[in-house]
Amino acid sequence: METSKSGSSSFPATASITYADKTVTYPVITGTEGERGIDISRLRSDTGLITVDQGYGNTGSCQSAITYIDGDQGILRYRGIPIEEFAGNPDFIEVAWLLIFGRLPTSTESTRFRARLTANAHLHEAMKHTFEGFPASAPPMAIMSAMINTLGCFHPEMYLIKDEEIFEEAAARLISKIRTIAAFTYRRVNGLPYIYPNPKLRYCDNLLHMMFSMPYDQRVADPEISLAMNLIFILHADHEQNCSTSTVRMVGSSKANLFASCAAGVCALWGPLHGGANVEVLEMLGQIHQGGLTAEKYIEMAKQKGSGTRLMGFGHRVYKNYDPRAKMLQSVCEKVLKKLNLRDPLLDIARKLEELALKDQYFIERKLYPNVDFYSGLIMRAIGIPTNMFTVMFAIGRLPGWVAHWKEQHDDANSKIARPRQIYTGPVNKHYVPMDSR
Ligand code: ACO
Repeated sequence: METSKSGSSSFPATASITYADKTVTYPVITGTEGERGIDISRLRSDTGLITVDQGYGNTGSCQSAITYIDGDQGILRYRGIPIEEFAGNPDFIEVAWLLIFGRLPTSTESTRFRARLTANAHLHEAMKHTFEGFPASAPPMAIMSAMINTLGCFHPEMYLIKDEEIFEEAAARLISKIRTIAAFTYRRVNGLPYIYPNPKLRYCDNLLHMMFSMPYDQRVADPEISLAMNLIFILHADHEQNCSTSTVRMVGSSKANLFASCAAGVCALWGPLHGGANVEVLEMLGQIHQGGLTAEKYIEMAKQKGSGTRLMGFGHRVYKNYDPRAKMLQSVCEKVLKKLNLRDPLLDIARKLEELALKDQYFIERKLYPNVDFYSGLIMRAIGIPTNMFTVMFAIGRLPGWVAHWKEQHDDANSKIARPRQIYTGPVNKHYVPMDSR
């Protein structure tokens, strides 16, 4: 491949690909942070060739103005704002608005959106019967995905987003009701009576109320715990073209509605390689604690090729530096445990593992640092959220990101249905053989 210099930029403005005796030249697109990509959209029609990139590690599926990540420097910004700036007084709903609408809300916009969330916190009574239809053993992520699609059935007028007003109402419904769906899922699988939303409570307080109150015992969340939940949700709110967000965009590209697209996102997030990793961190810590292993021994096992053991919560496909979200959650974890007056032996093990790994050549050479999952599970465990609900909490946090990406794609006049190509490797030109001749 060759490149040609543009007059005004220090980087080449085009790239040329030569195959056989033909050379084609394509524009190089530059993002606002200087990331560059070759626009190969004419490659197949010009040459008959396609690109192959399993796992899409080198493929830009879209141009997006929502989230910026620099994995080498450990930078994560929402609409240009570094996530560290949300730590002072974390407000998940404000961040949700920012991601979806592209700027911080004015006071009027914020009040209006919050009023919409409050008005939409309840679920249609018929949905309670749907919860009852699931066995108590159903995985919470399966219930959540199904219930988000069910929710859409109660608002068919929102399948087609005709204007901004309908979109804002649909976004508010989803963001508000996913919290009630999560709480009802928890109550269903634990055989507990459903607790209705309280319009006087803010977003995270209301979630904790619906999860942990009893009809005869109203639980009021400690403000520090509520702030910790706000921060967990904010830190999970978007991470550009990850697996679940790409799924939402893929489904949405067919003009599927917002509810169906987000239900698909939940399914993608369910996988242990994506949203399920914080569960595995706790399992690892528990295994060390109960199995009489030491942190030193576990680190040695994680370094051995073929041992099948990895230091869970360490390493990231994009971050080759400290995951900025992990740094923020580490201090929150300490604060929450102090506030609740808890001593968690698993936190001591986590601290020791981190200390050992950060000075171990194996982890240094491979740029393996703690990721967001390393501490988020410990915080949720301290708050009383059971392990099987961790990924559901992740989904609540990630929803604004999915909605923002769905909207960005929906508003893009040039958006096309996502339809990747393949290199076919199956049998060539065989013939059908009748059953009695096989
Ligand atoms: N423990 C021990 N060794 C590791 C770890 C780990 N956690 N992660 C990577 N390595 C090693 C690999 O064995 C490999 O070593 P080698 O070069 O000697 O073969 C090298 O580091 C590179 O590993 P890859 O798997 O190629 O790195 P990749 O960037 O593809 O993987 C991943 C990233 C999947 C996150 C990986 O680091 C991992 O499995 N971590 C543990 C699971 C985890 O915490 N996942 C959560 C990710 S964050 C999120 O999804 C929200």
